Amino acid sequence: MTTLSNWLAAQSVDAKLASVMTTMAAASAEIAAVLRQSAISGQTGLAGHTNVQGEDQKALDVISNDIVLNHIRQNPEISILVSEELDEPVHIENQGTYLVATDPLDGSSNLDVNVTVGTIFSILDARKGLLQPGSAQLGAGYAAYGPATSFVITFGPSAAVFTLNDDGVFVLTTEKLAVPKASAEYAINTARERLWDDATKGYVAENVAGETGPAGKRYNMRWIGSMVADVHRILMRGGIFLYPLDSENAAKGGRLRLLYEGNPMAMLVAAAGGASTTGQQSVLDVVPTDIHQRVPVVLGSADEVARVVAWYAQA
Ligand code: AHG
Ligand code: MN
Ligand code: MN
Ligand code: MN
Repeated sequence: MTTLSNWLAAQSVDAKLASVMTTMAAASAEIAAVLRQSAISGQTGLAGHTNVQGEDQKALDVISNDIVLNHIRQNPEISILVSEELDEPVHIENQGTYLVATDPLDGSSNLDVNVTVGTIFSILDARKGLLQPGSAQLGAGYAAYGPATSFVITFGPSAAVFTLNDDGVFVLTTEKLAVPKASAEYAINTARERLWDDATKGYVAENVAGETGPAGKRYNMRWIGSMVADVHRILMRGGIFLYPLDSENAAKGGRLRLLYEGNPMAMLVAAAGGASTTGQQSVLDVVPTDIHQRVPVVLGSADEVARVVAWYAQA
């Protein structure tokens, strides 16, 4: 049995950087425990506040944010926290080298109904400022709180999966994630079809046409509505996730947030051999101008992402 701490000790990364993963693992284990009991403890419903993006915060969004912040404050290597739930970055008075950007709880619409949600995070060099492209990430990961709690992380070259055991220890369960190059499964919110651009409409129509259409195979559609859960399925067995720019979200730049949703997931998918695009460029190449900036996100199996890129090139 390889534990997260054993595995981290064997990696050729700075021990201080590895400690950031340990901190996020501890925060995730605590959030998992809170989620397991939330229907009983009454930690449900709305918090009564809106966040900087105008979303109604749920009680668990706020609790998860507080848990992450508490753990980060205990690690002197981390000096800045950027969070979906905090308007401004938190600067911690230490000499810490690292900045963590987090979506403390992803999948708000699936809270209180016992469907998989998660915590997403990105690790950057705090000395290089707040607005770095995803290609500058030193590490990234997420926890998925489903039937099991999975902790999926990367330092760049590969991505590994750990599973939380009954003793509260993360155990290595997949050493090197590999996203299949080909897939016949796609994930998109089809209720927004009327709002999509021509490239998205064209790509999805080919999939719906199935084996007699230009794609030449039968597709299946899966949409959980928690990015973490949809991306976890794609990392484990292939597929493609799309939250494109559409006529309604275009004014905001998209739906998902670059620093703590798009970038960490794009880094993980790349480490597992997949690809990502905004339609115009790799998600990892977008240079942010705001910490809460939104971005169109398409990621997953390389062949499917290439088809979407081809649609954008001709559209
Ligand atoms: P969050 O709960 O952190 O605000 O993120 C929700 C995101 C993401 O998890 C998911 O893919 C997407 O919103 C779902 O959007 P729809 O409501 O359009 O399905
Ligand atoms: Mn939210
Ligand atoms: Mn989210
Ligand atoms: Mn969130």
